[in-house]
Amino acid sequence: MTAGVVETVAALRERLDRSRGAGISIGLVPTMGALHAGHTALIERARRECGCVVVTIFVNPLQFDREDDLRRYPRTLEADLDTCRSLDVDVVFAPRDDEMYPSPPACTVRVDRLADHLCGRHRPGHFEGVATVVLKLLQIAQPQRAYFGEKDAQQTAIIRRVVRDFNVPVDIVEVPIVREPDGLAISSRNVHLSRGERRVAVSLYRVLCEVQRHIAAGRTDAAEVRRQAAACLPADDGLRLEYLELVDPGNMQPVERITGPVRVAGALWVGATRLIDNLLCKPPG
Ligand code: PAJ
Repeated sequence: MTAGVVETVAALRERLDRSRGAGISIGLVPTMGALHAGHTALIERARRECGCVVVTIFVNPLQFDREDDLRRYPRTLEADLDTCRSLDVDVVFAPRDDEMYPSPPACTVRVDRLADHLCGRHRPGHFEGVATVVLKLLQIAQPQRAYFGEKDAQQTAIIRRVVRDFNVPVDIVEVPIVREPDGLAISSRNVHLSRGERRVAVSLYRVLCEVQRHIAAGRTDAAEVRRQAAACLPADDGLRLEYLELVDPGNMQPVERITGPVRVAGALWVGATRLIDNLLCKPPG
C-alpha cells in the first residue's frame, strides 16, 4: 500500500480509473471502520482475489436507528489505516458525511420482504440506509467483486438482491463468520462490553448452537426448537433476547417446519450493547 486515504468521490474515481485502464480487477470491502479480525478476513480474501483492493471506511448515519448508537460507534481511523497498510490494501476511501450526502438524499433504496423480519423488524429504516449506501459505494467504485460477511447474513442477502434488482455488474462474495475462541462473533460493538458482560455475551452463540443441535437431531417444529434453546440463556438481568428466529436462508422468511437448511439468527442485548449472530443449520439426512 498505499497512497494513503482518499476522501473524495472524484479522487477515488480517478485512482480506480487508472487501475481499470490497466486491466486490473477491483475488489471492494465496505466497512464502518474500527477494523477487527472479521474485517481482516474480508480484506485478505479480497487481496487474494483482486488486483486492486479498496477498503471503504464510513460510519453511515443513514443506517442508524438510534442516535446514541451512532454517537458512541467506535472511530479509530489511524489504527484502521495501519491495519490496511499491513494487509497491503491499495486504496482506503474514508469520505466525510457531506461527501457521501452533500444534501439529505431524495432517493433511497426501499427494501421489501427481505427486511420484514430479524433486524429489519427491530431497526426501522436500517436496511434502507444500508442498501442506499452500498448501492452508492458500488456505483462509485464499480468493482468486479464486493466482499460481505456472513455475520450480517440478512444484510448480505439484501445486498445480493439490490445488485440483482438494479442490474449492478458485481460479484458478491460472502465470507464466513470470524469468532473469538469461546465462540463470540467478533464485532465492533464488543468493545463496549464490560468484563462481566463479555463473559455472558457468549450465551447468544450457545443458544444458536443449541438450535443447531436440535435440528441436527431431527427436530422439525421451529417454535418448539426456539423455545427450548432460548431457555438455555442464563438468568441475568443484563441479558435480553430481542429475537431468535429460524428463517429460510434465501428469502429470510420465517419457517414453521424444518424440512431443509435454515438459518437461525438472534439479537441479544447485553446491558446497553446489542449483539447479533447466526448459524446455518441442517437437518439430518
Ligand atoms: P461493518 O459492521 O463495519 O462490517 C463490514 C463488513 O464486515 C460486513 O460485511 C460485515 O458482515 C463484516 N463482518 C463484521 N464482523 C464480522 C465477523 N465477525 N466475521 C466476518 N465478517 C464480519 O456492515 C457494515 O459495516 C455496514 O452495514 C456496511 C455494509 C459497511 C454499510 O454501511
